[in-house]
Amino acid sequence: MDRLIGIRIDAQVSVTASLPGASCIGSVCRAGLRPRLCMHALTVGLIFWALIGIAGPIGAVPASATEHSVPPMAADVSAPVDWAAIPARMVMLFYPGQSSYQWLRGTDHPAGMAAVAGGTPCSACHRGQEAALGERIVAGGSLEPDPIAGKRGAIELRVQAAYDNERLYLRLQWPTQSDRPGQVHDFLRYDGQSWAPFGGPRSKPVVRSGAMPALYEDRLGIALDDGTVPSFEQQGCWLACHDGMRDMQRQPPAEQVRAHGLLGRLLGQEDVRKYLPDTRDDTTASWNRTRPTEAIAALKAAGAFLELMQWRAARSNPVGMADDGHVLEYRLSDAGVGPFVSNLDRGTKAPRYMFDQTRTGFRSLALEQITDRSEPYALVREGNAAPYDPDAGWQAGDLLPSRVLSRADAQGSAADNRDVVGSWDQGTWTVVWARPLDTGNPEDDKPMRPGERYTVSFSVHDDNVTTRFHHVSFPLRLGIGVNADITAVRVE
Ligand code: HEC
Repeated sequence: MDRLIGIRIDAQVSVTASLPGASCIGSVCRAGLRPRLCMHALTVGLIFWALIGIAGPIGAVPASATEHSVPPMAADVSAPVDWAAIPARMVMLFYPGQSSYQWLRGTDHPAGMAAVAGGTPCSACHRGQEAALGERIVAGGSLEPDPIAGKRGAIELRVQAAYDNERLYLRLQWPTQSDRPGQVHDFLRYDGQSWAPFGGPRSKPVVRSGAMPALYEDRLGIALDDGTVPSFEQQGCWLACHDGMRDMQRQPPAEQVRAHGLLGRLLGQEDVRKYLPDTRDDTTASWNRTRPTEAIAALKAAGAFLELMQWRAARSNPVGMADDGHVLEYRLSDAGVGPFVSNLDRGTKAPRYMFDQTRTGFRSLALEQITDRSEPYALVREGNAAPYDPDAGWQAGDLLPSRVLSRADAQGSAADNRDVVGSWDQGTWTVVWARPLDTGNPEDDKPMRPGERYTVSFSVHDDNVTTRFHHVSFPLRLGIGVNADITAVRVE
């Protein structure tokens, strides 16, 4: 199943677009490695593709086609699905701000509080209101105390679904707010003495102040349940979103989370992320009121967790994958190793990998390269990475990705989403996602069967944001060969 057929890093130099005096790329010139490249303009003429050919049913790119001109992993090339023949469902995603589980059941949601507590679906009252709700919340107010200027209130996601004996295929398309894809994440920057994090989401104070650029990947999330999580079919991801979480109301200080028996001491966390109310022992499902570990283990064994998968434009797409996680007492990764790990060595406080200059022509990147934020520049362990050399003559301003990707090292249940390919064209992402109907890992996945219905809800993180600054859907029914909001059509 491992279909990595090769990684090619091509420098594409357009002489026609050269501009005199334009900057050169990264440390290439400074290190005197490839002076030829420095003669050409960066601005328009120089395009680096981290060309990664992932062969396989949805993303097969013939080796010859990856030469020079074809974007990385053009989707659909040999899909078993004729997508033009599959009906599409338009799903409105909207900006939810801080509308948490607790807010929905509180006096600030007076018309809905009792109904929500009683399990009434959100759509019973809010059907068709998504865009209006989103536009109102995103502009700022009690549900969004810290608005991001110009952000959209809603995004329309186009969803198509198909299946065969082995796999579910999803094709997901949405417009980006920006005129470029968000394909880079935060970096490590050398300041002349040590390496420190550089860039981040738009919500981060140093990015809001303009001290650092907004560098954060685009993402698509899918939450999936088979009816085991009470009320998920009615209320979707709002079950998992609580006061006390990162960037939500009443966020506790890190030391309080670190001191918490389960979340801090056992799980080693210092902030609160998604969780399900049944893992808490009070009626308001407070972040710190966790039930005993045996009770939580029993919920897991009964399948009462939410499956949560995320396609990531910077941290998984360059290796043709999505991550695979689940939500129970916390937002957890499935067992095994996912598509990316940190590039920071906690011991030496230096990067673990740099670019392999024999393959890329450079060891690190420069600010001019990453601030256009349109190229992936992924550091791929088995592709274009080399072990970090502390004596390589690093200079202030050198940048390395803060994550290392690997398809070869990904394994176990965390690596179930191995055939997910996103491509961006003229303002639209198209992600084609193939997933085994039954991953064989029921301890942290939801097995799917033809003839059955499941509940899904979608999220999109667009334009360099994280946490609550995303867009979400109300829950929808997904039928595998049976009628539902989204009907997966059988293909051979
Ligand atoms: C019984 C009807 C009802 C149900 C069920 C209900 N709501 Fe509401 N909700 C309302 C009404 C009425 C308002 C206030 C009027 C408005 O803003 O449209 C409101 C307001 C909101 C707002 C605030 C909008 C703003 O402008 O500030 C959000 C967000 C919201 N609801 C989300 C939800 C979600 C999510 C669910 C499901 C978990 C839900 N509601 C279930 C009736 C309901």
